[in-house]
Amino acid sequence: MHEFNPSPSALEAGADARFRRAELLLIDATDRFEGSVQRVVALLQAGKVVALPTETVYGLAASAIHPEAVRKLFQIKGRPALNPIIVHIADWKMADRCCIHWPPVARRLAEAFWPGPLTLVLFRSAQIPDLVTGGGPTVGVRWPRHAFLEAVIRRCGFPLAAPSANLAGQLSPTTAQHVLEGLGDQIELIVDGGPCQVGIESTVVDVTKQPPGLLRPGIIPQAAIENIIGPLQSDPTIPDPILRSPGQVAKHYAPKAKLVIWSWENEAELRRRLIGEGKPWAAIQVLAHSHIPRGLGVGRVSVIPLAVEAYARGLYAELHRCDEAHAQLIVVEAPPVTPEWLAINDRLRRASA
Ligand code: TXA
Ligand code: MG
Repeated sequence: MHEFNPSPSALEAGADARFRRAELLLIDATDRFEGSVQRVVALLQAGKVVALPTETVYGLAASAIHPEAVRKLFQIKGRPALNPIIVHIADWKMADRCCIHWPPVARRLAEAFWPGPLTLVLFRSAQIPDLVTGGGPTVGVRWPRHAFLEAVIRRCGFPLAAPSANLAGQLSPTTAQHVLEGLGDQIELIVDGGPCQVGIESTVVDVTKQPPGLLRPGIIPQAAIENIIGPLQSDPTIPDPILRSPGQVAKHYAPKAKLVIWSWENEAELRRRLIGEGKPWAAIQVLAHSHIPRGLGVGRVSVIPLAVEAYARGLYAELHRCDEAHAQLIVVEAPPVTPEWLAINDRLRRASA
């Protein structure tokens, strides 16, 4: 009889053993759903960190009420301790337990958009550990619209702290494969729910101040929020001087290659500008929506739809692909600058910083 034989590197690492490669757990088949929920819940109850799909991007989840689990989460991500983490809930009672009170505007937004891609920054309750909030008086709360994740949270009975499942500063993952590439040697399990429906991170609204502030634009149009609660404060293109939300730091959500956002009238113009960049032709990737170059002969030309939701769904996958291809220059055809493109332009600006 052979005992399980851990790899030498796992032995050396001792208690903090690194996983050579996380297991991918598929949840596509209904007969596997229940068993998968149970397995994930058991890991979370034991204080483990696992990667889970949400409708926005994949999250790196741990029990939000176990400081040790949250500490592990920060360590795996390499996240600065001052950057607070979003707490994920799946019913109103759990939401109530996270904060000390609900301003009327918060209630109205939650009723309109939960479950969904909206995070509300509220005054925290004593149940939320300091580590989750970066030591501050507020907590970001979100009810994700994702059947598996909701089932896991409800079965746990405690909220889950979950930042995006990527190393700090890098692109958010929108597939289990992206998580595997970035964090596969650091976690035990990645639940594979397929590509995320939304594709960019949730809208973050701070409802602890009046007027409420838009800390991070997302797929919910700003106008839809303002229709419900009136004007939001702050243009997210202007970094908050006291940095209330590190998602506002300029360099964030970034691919490894240099990324530029250009407009061009025709292929000749694009070619001239590319030559000026002095990069190997094969290491250039172009992401276009309207003026699609046909004969450039660069590494790759991808076409992304000029429709906000489809663009958001595809953007990070395209940028991840550029990273995998070891691109040195990513040229993104500038999207429109109308309000509905706010979140896309925000992410592209950060990716190019
Ligand atoms: O869609 C999402 O929000 C994904 C999925 C996994 O839910 N999560 C996510 O988490 O993007 P993360 O940690 O990568 O980004 C959370 C953002 C950060 O910009 C953080 O600074 C901000 O939300 N945030 C969280 N709690 C906050 C708080 N109490 N006050 C201000 N900003 C907060
Ligand atoms: Mg993130």
